[in-house]
Amino acid sequence: MEGAFILNLTLLVFIYATRDKYLCLETATIYESNPNLLPSKMLKIRNVLNFAEKCSTRTRLLSSGAPQIAPAIDEPGPKESVKTEVLKHPDYFSVRDIFTVKDLFDARVHYGHREGSLESRMLPYIYGSRLGHIVFDLDKTAQYLRQALNITAHIAYRDGIVLFFMRQPQNAHLVETCAKECGEFAHTRFWRGGIFTNAEKQFGAVTRLPDLCIFFNTLTTILSQHTAVRDSAKMGIPTIGIVDSNCNPNLITYPVPGNDDSPAAIEFYCRVFKEAILRGKTKRKEHEAL
Ligand SMILES: *[C@@H]1O[C@H](CO)[C@@H](O)[C@H](O)[C@H]1NC(C)=O
Repeated sequence: MEGAFILNLTLLVFIYATRDKYLCLETATIYESNPNLLPSKMLKIRNVLNFAEKCSTRTRLLSSGAPQIAPAIDEPGPKESVKTEVLKHPDYFSVRDIFTVKDLFDARVHYGHREGSLESRMLPYIYGSRLGHIVFDLDKTAQYLRQALNITAHIAYRDGIVLFFMRQPQNAHLVETCAKECGEFAHTRFWRGGIFTNAEKQFGAVTRLPDLCIFFNTLTTILSQHTAVRDSAKMGIPTIGIVDSNCNPNLITYPVPGNDDSPAAIEFYCRVFKEAILRGKTKRKEHEAL
């Protein structure tokens, strides 16, 4: 009896350490088949059972159709196997060939703000300074931008809603046109607080929030951080943000260091993100027809 308890306790510690869903399920059955334990230990065990139960419910919720729990019974259909193939591929939508480092240079993505306004958190992405202006390391920018494009294409493929942000009036029309051309959404005006965080009250109904927010600039017209950056983080919405040398990248899921003011650079970002979204959507249509 004592031995069994110690064994169970070891397993329990192991569960807490790994949070492995399979182990949770297994221990739950061990406890169920072991009902004559001492009362003082029962309480602990009941807690474990609750934990295991919660664990397994969450697992069921997270895995649609739970293919991982019973992989041998259900043969995955052609759609499922395509979906796993899409996720396993390192660059399924070949976002790598959407742009080159020279394209970044031609679009003046390397221009930062003046040295005096440098945000120290941007230091790792900076190449140097020239005539008092920060210059970005475009090799690093390219790497981050490709990652961002990859995730954008994947979200578009999964039928996610993408919301573009631009708070500079001189570039707003570019971003709005871009969003329209790829069938997504743009927000270019004053951001009322609570649009994400208090959506049900503000719109009077259950609201579907975007699945990805793309900030072409992360600052407002008065150079404070856009409130939607914080609100997206609060609501767990992934974000992509072009961060210039005076911006804080901390709250952004996929920061892309680069110039966020020149129309040439904004046009470039519009082109590449539109391309990534359209590639994702085209693939989705192809796979839906399977
Ligand atoms: C692209 O995104 C997918 C899905 O998130 C991921 O599985 C893949 O590893 C990513 N590729 C790269 C190169 O980051």
